[in-house]
This record gives sequence, structure tokens and C-alpha cells, in this order.
Amino acid sequence: MTVSQRRYHITTFGCQMNKADSERMAGILETMGFEWAEEPEQADLILYNTCTIRDNAEQKVYSYLGRQAKRKHEQPDLTLIVAGCVAQQEGEALLRRVPELDLVMGPQHANGLKDLLEQVFNGNQVVATEPIHIVEDITKPRRDSTITAWVNVIYGCNERCTYCVVPNVRGVEQSRTPEAIRAEMEELGQQGYKEITLLGQNIDAYGRDLPGSTAEGRHQHTFTDLLTFVHDVPGVERLRFATSHPRYFTERLIRTCAELPKVCEHFHIPFQSGDNDLLKAMARGYTQEKYRRIIDTIRRYLPDAAISADAIVGFPGETEAQFENTLKLVEDIGFDQLNTAAYSPRPGTPAALWEKQLSEEVKSDRLQRLNHLVSTKAAERSQRYQGRIEEVLVEDQNPKDPTQVMGRTRGNRLTFFTGDIHTLKGQLVPVRITEVRPFSLTGKPVEAGAV
Ligand code: SAH
Ligand code: SF4
Ligand code: F3S
Repeated sequence: MTVSQRRYHITTFGCQMNKADSERMAGILETMGFEWAEEPEQADLILYNTCTIRDNAEQKVYSYLGRQAKRKHEQPDLTLIVAGCVAQQEGEALLRRVPELDLVMGPQHANGLKDLLEQVFNGNQVVATEPIHIVEDITKPRRDSTITAWVNVIYGCNERCTYCVVPNVRGVEQSRTPEAIRAEMEELGQQGYKEITLLGQNIDAYGRDLPGSTAEGRHQHTFTDLLTFVHDVPGVERLRFATSHPRYFTERLIRTCAELPKVCEHFHIPFQSGDNDLLKAMARGYTQEKYRRIIDTIRRYLPDAAISADAIVGFPGETEAQFENTLKLVEDIGFDQLNTAAYSPRPGTPAALWEKQLSEEVKSDRLQRLNHLVSTKAAERSQRYQGRIEEVLVEDQNPKDPTQVMGRTRGNRLTFFTGDIHTLKGQLVPVRITEVRPFSLTGKPVEAGAV
């Protein structure tokens, strides 16, 4: 132990990709001898892993940064880093805005944190935003959970949805090899992880960029093949994946999910809008009829599957009637969960330049109406769990009630029940559901043999 142990803090904004990147960067910092600090104020190195999906996400970063930049005047050896999607979007401009920064690094550079920091410690102010081929990370991520883990399968996105910054900030699609993915999963299985979520912005694109089949010809490179290839990893009991794109979602994938017992009956398939003209303006590449057919097919194979999605209201030019088509889709399908957002114009995206931008009032009114419908439908969907026995993977104590533990059902509903976290953590427990709420459940564990 050195006299003054160097300590780091990471604040993560945004999606699961960013959370996964943060875990890898934390792992790199720990191999460099840094120790985790719970509070940013106790840290000598602060890293903000940022999101720019909507303007309010971006603004939040500046307010956090402002505070730490001031602190740097009193503590000049404080290292300040901005990583992630705002870093990529703003690049050098971020240094002009916040000259106290030491390092600005885009998401593709997450695995290269050590080299970048060495340049910083040599006295340089560094900007790393050039597109690169993402190299496999050899250090161990410092994962938040010991039960569930994320594994990236494809980075980037080649779609060009007209509202979206992701392709600008995350770069082109880069698939990891099936072997690298499986090796990471096997290690997780050995360490006691029970559930793995495979990640990609457009996970159905997996493998398109990989060179042909492997020499042994064991598997081709589609996401469906990958699922089959990794399904039997020892120790791992559950598999999930996100995010699916309706344009590429296949019946073959649904059939494979139905056949593979570890794959949970939960699909996250954003539809964005229930109106065909808007879908076209968004360049999504499918119609609402096609989306409904996908859901029908899922329900044919897996009648009880949980369905979640993302939707945007107030896209440029959206009329009241077009918005009502979104309401209608939500009404008809009955999502278990829906992430909703008011459209936010983003730099470097086509839709931001279009006329017919809607007022904030109209957007927030539509958002409220949609959210109201979403919780009504989610409450209806929760009803089906009442009295049923659901398998819950126990992840943690209920922070609001230490006599209870919490975990998720296969359909991804958060579930609470009375129990001791020390004996139950990581266990798959059959639980009889006694109380249902729109987005969570409460139950009682079922004694072995009493089923
Ligand atoms: N790859 C995923 C989504 C990634 S971004 C997909 O294709 O569905 C996560 C969600 O943020 C999107 O599904 C969309 O609903 C929302 N979003 C993206 N850009 C947005 C914008 N400019 N304004 C409002 N919401 C946006
Ligand atoms: Fe954005 Fe579309 Fe790519 Fe999703 S598929 S990340 S919405 S561009
Ligand atoms: Fe945000 Fe970047 Fe994810 S913009 S949603 S953190 S890909």
C-alpha cells in the first residue's frame, strides 16, 4: 500500500452500454492501483461517463462537471475525465467549454483508458475521439453485481434513424467474435454469475461485419447462432438480450428463444411510433403492421412473454391523429413496460433541422397522456401474475425493507419477498405472487415439495 492511495469515482449516465463500459474502465483503474471512492469529493480521479441521447441528458453532464471543475482550482492534482457519448459528440469543444478537463475520450476508447491516462500523467491534456477498431479488453471489469452481468456482443450502430445521435457517437457496428463472447461468459459462470444480458444497440445486426464462418464451420454469425453457441455455458442459468430492432427481428430468433430454456421470455423491441408516415420519416424501415406481426409471432411461440419497448412522442410534424396511432398501438399490444420520451432535437441528426418542430407544451402533454396509458396497461399486464408461481433470481436486499429480498422474474418484473439475503443471494426461488403493482410484484417463497 502506498502512503497516499489514489482513489477514483465514476458517475455513469445513459444506457446499459455506458454502464458496461464504466465497469470495464473501473477494472482498468483498479489494475492501475486506484481504489473506489463512494463519493466524488473523496476521489483524486473523477470520470463522468456521459450520455447525449436527449438534450436534458447532455445538460446534466455540464452541471455535474461545473462543480468539479471549480474544485480543481483548490486541488490541482485532481484528474477530471469526460468519457462516453458527450465526449465523442463535443471532442475538442469540450476543452474550450471546460478547460479544467484532463481527458476527453469517446466510447470506442474505453478499453484504452490506461494508455490515455499515462499521457495525462505525463502532463498532457488529451482528446481521444478518432474512430478505432475496438480491441478486446484484457483486464477484468469491476462489475456492480455479483449475480447479473452484461456482456457486449456488438458495438456501434449502422442504422440512421433520423432523430438519433448513437451512430455519430458510437461509430459503426463492430461484432466481437463468438469465441471471445463465450470465453467471457464462461469466466462469469465460474465466478458464480447466474444471469447474463447480451448487449448491442441493434443486437440483430450481430455478426454482419465478421468474416465468414470459422474454419471448423461450427457456427455461422447471426445473433440466433450466437445464442445457440453460448447457451450451455456452465453456471449461467438465465440469458437476456437487448436491444432488438423490428426491422431485422426474425421468426427463427423467436423459435430459438422458445427452444432454449435459459433464454428468458422477455423481449425489448422499441417501436418508436405507431404511425406509418412517422416511421418512414424516422427511417425505421418497418410499418406498424409489421411490428404487430412480430408481437403476434412471439405470442404464438411464447404466449406469456413479457414485451417492452421505447417510444418517442412529438417527432417533427407529428399530428394529433398520428400520436393517437401510437396510443392505439400501446392500447392493443399491452406492453409490460415502455420507455417513453419527448422528441429532443440532436446535433448532427437530420430531423433536428426539419421545420414543423412541435412546441414543448404539445410534447409534454402527449408524453403525459402516453405515460398514463402505459401504467394502466402495465397494471393490467401485472394482473396475470396474481396467485401464480414465478421463478425469482434473488439479487439484493430490498433497500426500503431489510427483511425482504428482491430479484426479477423471467419476464423481468421486479419482485419482493420476505427472506434473508445472506442465504438467498444468487438463488432461483419459486415465489407465489400475492400482490401486484404496475411495475413490481410481492410474493411468498414456495416451500420445496409444496408446489
Ligand atoms: N438502439 C435502440 C435505441 C437506442 S437509444 C433502438 O434502435 O431502438 C434509446 C431510446 O432513446 C430510443 O429507443 C428512442 O426511443 C430514444 N431516443 C433516441 N433519440 C431520441 C431523441 N432525439 N429524442 C427523444 N428520444 C430519443
Ligand atoms: Fe439509434 Fe436507430 Fe441505431 Fe437505435 S437503431 S441506436 S435508434 S440509429
Ligand atoms: Fe446515451 Fe450513448 Fe447510450 S447517447 S443512450 S449513453 S449510446
